[in-house]
Amino acid sequence: MKKYAMIGCGGIGQYHLNHLLQFQDIEAVAFCDLIPDRAAAFAKQAGGEVYTDYRELLDKSRPDMLFICIPPYAHGDIEMDVIKQGIPFFVEKPVSLDLNLAKRIRDEIARAGLITAVGFQCRYSSLNPPTRTFIEQNEISFVQCSRIGGVPEVSWWRNKTLSGGQIVEQTIHQFDLIRFVFGEPVNVFSMNARGFVRDVEDYDTDDLSVTVVRFANGALASISTGCYAQDGAAFDSKLTFSSRKSRLDHYLLQRVDIYGIDQAITKDSGLVVKGDGTMAAAAASANSVDDNGQAGLTCDRTFVEAVISGDGSKILSPYADAVKTLAFTLACNQSIETGQPVDMTKLLAD
Ligand SMILES: NC(=O)c1ccc[n+]([C@@H]2O[C@H](COP(=O)([O-])OP(=O)(O)OC[C@H]3O[C@@H](n4cnc5c(N)ncnc54)[C@H](O)[C@@H]3O)[C@@H](O)[C@H]2O)c1
Repeated sequence: MKKYAMIGCGGIGQYHLNHLLQFQDIEAVAFCDLIPDRAAAFAKQAGGEVYTDYRELLDKSRPDMLFICIPPYAHGDIEMDVIKQGIPFFVEKPVSLDLNLAKRIRDEIARAGLITAVGFQCRYSSLNPPTRTFIEQNEISFVQCSRIGGVPEVSWWRNKTLSGGQIVEQTIHQFDLIRFVFGEPVNVFSMNARGFVRDVEDYDTDDLSVTVVRFANGALASISTGCYAQDGAAFDSKLTFSSRKSRLDHYLLQRVDIYGIDQAITKDSGLVVKGDGTMAAAAASANSVDDNGQAGLTCDRTFVEAVISGDGSKILSPYADAVKTLAFTLACNQSIETGQPVDMTKLLAD
């Protein structure tokens, strides 16, 4: 029976533990958190030793696989030590806030030949095959993405130096999915805004940002994200893949709605101006596909099975690929800081 351990026993750690507890072919050996009660609470659920120093965990418990569920600012030494010990690991996104550090970790993983996975569970969504089919069958000229919500509770989140900001910490899921189902970014240009969130203590991050992306095939995307909203009625989250005759709205881990001229038009349809200047009904009816709700479980199971079998080929988000998504989001921050577009090919040159 393979043994697993976890470093970082907070919110997302519990999410993974809920999955791991369902697997009969692995057992917990240790949990580590700087806050001992948190590691103890996990050990109470799953068994295993409790540590506050990950080095001690590595030396004493000798796990076959590790789940690293620490905040964005805490990456680096842990991964390097885990790689030195040759332990396959699953690490949460964003893999770092420092692209050069992430590249060094990536290169050490390659040298060691380790199986790794990153917490981009949306890649395992049952919505991705229909989304990809739509993209293959329709020439997409525009991707429109929005993620508007509030300020998460964890204290490090509201400090951009610790979290990376909303793009890097949260909306990175959408950035990653765009890469996964559509294509690689070539140029990135972002603007931020502050001053709308006034009532959160120790708040020092962007309230919102808008990013323009150019892709290799010439298509554009606009990605808007904000944490200024205080009421669910103001929340919004979706990706729209838009072509000349149809569009697909992808609601992450929920459903896709596919709108097309052929499926139109039954109720509440608005009017659009056609290419010849005449008015036509906009499609209001859609073919919908619901998510099967298995993405998170499948993501964790795929990693566990990869470690058991020694074959990492089914993992959809290995560390090296997650570094590219990290670069995509850090490019936005760089553009915000400099006021200039960022050339992704330069950023990923080495
Ligand atoms: N994949 C997803 O959908 C998803 C969802 C939520 C969070 N996350 C990511 O997971 C990470 C953690 O988020 P969270 O919400 O669980 O945060 P959290 O603050 O709830 O938990 C992180 C835990 O790590 C511990 N920790 C920090 N440094 C440590 C160290 N050196 N050694 C041992 N323990 C350490 C903290 O004490 C804390 O208990 C973040 O990067 C976040 O972006 C991913």
